[in-house]
Amino acid sequence: MQQPAINIYDTPEIASATLAGVMANLIRANNAENKPTVLGLATGSTPLALYRELIRLHEEGNLSFRKVVTFNLDEYIGLERGHPESYWTFMWDNLFSKIDILEANVNIPDGTLAPDDVEEYCETYERKILQAGGLDLQVLGIGRTGHIGFNEPGSVKDSPTRLVVLNEVTREDAAPTFGGSNNVPREAITMGCGTILRARKISLLAFGKKKAGIVRAAIHGEISDQVPASYLQKAPHTTFYLDREAASEL
Ligand code: PGA
Repeated sequence: MQQPAINIYDTPEIASATLAGVMANLIRANNAENKPTVLGLATGSTPLALYRELIRLHEEGNLSFRKVVTFNLDEYIGLERGHPESYWTFMWDNLFSKIDILEANVNIPDGTLAPDDVEEYCETYERKILQAGGLDLQVLGIGRTGHIGFNEPGSVKDSPTRLVVLNEVTREDAAPTFGGSNNVPREAITMGCGTILRARKISLLAFGKKKAGIVRAAIHGEISDQVPASYLQKAPHTTFYLDREAASEL
């Protein structure tokens, strides 16, 4: 059976620049044919170097995002777009405000919906991805719980976009930026594992020693809902972009 590719780089910067190059080639090829590129994007500290490199390539002059459509993985429940820790703020601060993407082509789950409206909203998010032609490439990080997006342990393989309760480990990891774990929202909307696995290409970035154990579990452990990233073992269209530290337990 075909396996995901596991690429190990000396530094996060080299790994990120390599993935940025892959994404830039995809976007340029589609631009040349006047076709949209549909990207699934992630937040967190991991993709920051990737976004810096995409901005640099854009500023160099031959990478336009005007035909790019994006769908973000997730958003916290209860945060307005303008909240400093919202993923809307993260994406505009770290990428979108520095490239020529059209705001109409940006999709980030809305964390401010009335509880009764969430289910229908999630179905609409899924439909929008399909109507855009499906995800050409999905960027992922990995949480210490093995989550992809906010698909925490217990998330089934074909789970759709939905409301989820965040794992305590995830909330602890987010505590410093929120000024304490009590300020971290308890729920989020996330694209599902099924949504992610349908992307035509999946690129998972993981850097640093503290990810080494979960990277090992994801790549070599049992495929189980206890480590949702382990579903990627059966997704040969996945590439892991690891630095030496994150790969140190493989
Ligand atoms: P991080 O988060 O990039 O901030 O480590 C990754 C994740 O939770 O997916």
